[in-house]
Amino acid sequence: MLTGFGNNYLQEFSDYIALETGLFFPEERWNDMERNLRSISKDFGYNDVKSFVRWIASGKCSKEQIEIMAHHLTVGETYFFREKNCFEILRKQLIPELIKLRENNIRTIRIWSAGCCTGEEAYSVAILLKELIPDIHRWSISILGTDLNTKFLKKAERGIYSVWSFRENSDWIQEKYFKKHGHNEFEIIPAIRNMVKFSYLNLVEDAFPSLLTGTHSIDFLFCRNVLMYFSNETARKIINRFYKSITDEGWLLLSSVETNIIRDMQLNAVMISGQTFYRKNLEKYHAADSNVAESFPFYTDEAKVDELPVFHFIEEAKDNVETIIPEGIVHAKKEAVPVDGDKELYREATEDFEQGNYGKAIEKLQTLVSKNHGRNAAAAMLLAKSYANQGNLLEAYNMIELALKTDRTNVEYHFYHATILQAAGKMTEALESFRKVLFLDHDLVVAHFAIASILQNIGKQKEAQKYYNNSLSLLEKYDDDDVLTASEGITAGRLKKIILAVNHHK
Ligand SMILES: C[S@@+](CC[C@H](N)C(=O)[O-])C[C@H]1O[C@@H](n2cnc3c(N)ncnc32)[C@H](O)[C@@H]1O
Repeated sequence: MLTGFGNNYLQEFSDYIALETGLFFPEERWNDMERNLRSISKDFGYNDVKSFVRWIASGKCSKEQIEIMAHHLTVGETYFFREKNCFEILRKQLIPELIKLRENNIRTIRIWSAGCCTGEEAYSVAILLKELIPDIHRWSISILGTDLNTKFLKKAERGIYSVWSFRENSDWIQEKYFKKHGHNEFEIIPAIRNMVKFSYLNLVEDAFPSLLTGTHSIDFLFCRNVLMYFSNETARKIINRFYKSITDEGWLLLSSVETNIIRDMQLNAVMISGQTFYRKNLEKYHAADSNVAESFPFYTDEAKVDELPVFHFIEEAKDNVETIIPEGIVHAKKEAVPVDGDKELYREATEDFEQGNYGKAIEKLQTLVSKNHGRNAAAAMLLAKSYANQGNLLEAYNMIELALKTDRTNVEYHFYHATILQAAGKMTEALESFRKVLFLDHDLVVAHFAIASILQNIGKQKEAQKYYNNSLSLLEKYDDDDVLTASEGITAGRLKKIILAVNHHK
């Protein structure tokens, strides 16, 4: 019990913070913690740390205030192309492999920088992809940066950096991808800026994967220098959810000091040129450990811009981005059979899905769906979700259409239908579909939120605001801990926070 009295207030505070935020301060880090505690106390208007801790003990601290404490206790330290070796391997091996796998079919790549801080990591990947994919305008690239610190997110969105953020990079990066801002700062060019979306997300509290927040079917999930602040137990819980967010071919990237967290977990370690990466299935990854020691031109001591191969990039025109939704869809046979039975198989598939084993879930659900001639709507819906979480939006779309054929009145199916269209970049169709959802259930908060996000993305700020306001007023009816319908686990409190963060840092 936190009292703030006596000399063990540091122990009390570290226990409290671990409980509320998952952040972990063992005794050897108490000096750091005490220094931070002093600045937190000042921020909250207290002259001494002990009175502040006593105030916390009174239980009056809101979730928002706890997050402000978390801001102080975590380090906002990052820079472009941090951990050179990791980016070398991505550039020379892992990204080219993925490009090869996708270039003749879906042409999508999805990246998530979780704990993105001020955005350098996310922008580094954007630059790397620009360099590696000459016809990038033909691809659908999604790069998401999330953090719980809204000040960092605001800086990430502005995209203006001091030379310190380029401490290990060669000059050509600044020359090619930044323009000078004032005397000593550099602003990222719009072509890279527009490839990245930043959003609020607390890794300890928020639900993922979710189509709504874009945290699904991730090919490269960066969570570097973040998990080390958490207790082992919290870090492992987060990793278990990351497992569900990545595709079967996807990778989880931690920093080299964090690899000890993943012991005896579902993810498999793959060692490439001295760097450990993680993925779900080892059997799907047979690439030889190629020698990537060759010089990497992103770094100061390496090649300059005129030595680099020339790429011709056509700037993406939003309307021109190709998407993957087909004209035709799967048609259910008319002679339907009853849906009874098969419960065990459905239960097993649900279990696979919940554990993030989407490939296994898909096999079982395909059996169920075809056995029932497409009339098992629940199985088709779960199959749609499994495909979407694997990054196969085409099949996901087919399956949700199938579910809707059997059950036209199901609001969740309609909502998922719209969300898939949104994820596939079909914004006009998605808007229409979300409006249909509101026609069926005008109070569905997540639909208002989704419409607001689309409108904001296509530059209709004023209209977006209207839908954000609708969402906020509907959220008033909920307790913060209520899980919202059709949200894949997002609570009312968190959605409020996401909306306020978006509006706050514009
Ligand atoms: C040291 S930075 C890492 C930045 C970048 N990933 C890198 O490796 O350079 C740690 C970031 O984790 C964020 N963070 C800490 N706890 C978090 C949480 N619970 N949810 C989301 N982000 C969190 C911090 O706000 C901070 O921006």
